[in-house]
Amino acid sequence: MDVVETIHDLRQRRRIQGLNQVVGVVPTMGDLHAGHLRLVDHCREQCTFTIATLFVNPLQFGPKEDFANYPRALAKDKAELEQRDVNVLFAPSIEEMYPDGQSAHTTVTVPHLSEQLCGASRPGHFNGVTTVVTKLLQITQPDFAYFGEKDWQQLTIIRQMVRQLNMPVEVVGVPTCRESDGLAMSSRNRYLTREEREIAPHLFQTLRDIATHLHEGSTAYADLEESATNQLRETGFRPDYVAIRDPDTLEPPTASNQSLRVFGAARLGRARLIDNIGVAR
Ligand code: PAF
Repeated sequence: MDVVETIHDLRQRRRIQGLNQVVGVVPTMGDLHAGHLRLVDHCREQCTFTIATLFVNPLQFGPKEDFANYPRALAKDKAELEQRDVNVLFAPSIEEMYPDGQSAHTTVTVPHLSEQLCGASRPGHFNGVTTVVTKLLQITQPDFAYFGEKDWQQLTIIRQMVRQLNMPVEVVGVPTCRESDGLAMSSRNRYLTREEREIAPHLFQTLRDIATHLHEGSTAYADLEESATNQLRETGFRPDYVAIRDPDTLEPPTASNQSLRVFGAARLGRARLIDNIGVAR
């Protein structure tokens, strides 16, 4: 595996491959867990040339968020990617990605979708994501790009951006990897104390209970959201939202919705956990 830190070197490495390769990219912020490695495995199955990117993107963190403390584990990440026969790891510096400074940088915004759910409590977060993902796609020029369904809103926003800006890449969503007790894998799970780690799977269980009610035909959306929020609070979380939405528009459902998505975000100690689950009716 080649490790490259500059856009120039990445482009050169990419060019040497010529036109006969099917190129896939797996964008990450590092501290890789089984969820990331599943993205890599999907990419390796579908593509002949796999690029992983590792960049903790300051643009997507709010001023009071965990950018400085976000877990970094470059040596371990390199070894995991090497073992999985990734062809190139692109690990640029902040200066390489934002040479004119962050506030002077052109940004990419997907309106409306970016302002709801997590966007409401993390203003500007998704603009940071869409800006860096646009840059990474421009730099790596892949045929396929892989993102986890755990960040369903992010995936939906990136799909919309790629479609509206006619980017020549297929976005592939990969199902969430879970611990044996149902907790969605996330680098931020590291922030949980032992006691909090025991409480954490309740987020998924709560969303799953809502999904069961919806599957059985309930349309009492507001009641389901409210009682789930109360339940989370009673269990020790500080809930941000529990919301039943259309999976594509992220709007509240209408009578014609055949499929729904249940979203939840809640703080537990230092961690902000998110999860979601699909429901077919
Ligand atoms: O999901 C992530 O890890 C990040 O938001 C991404 C897509 C790598 C952009 O920084």
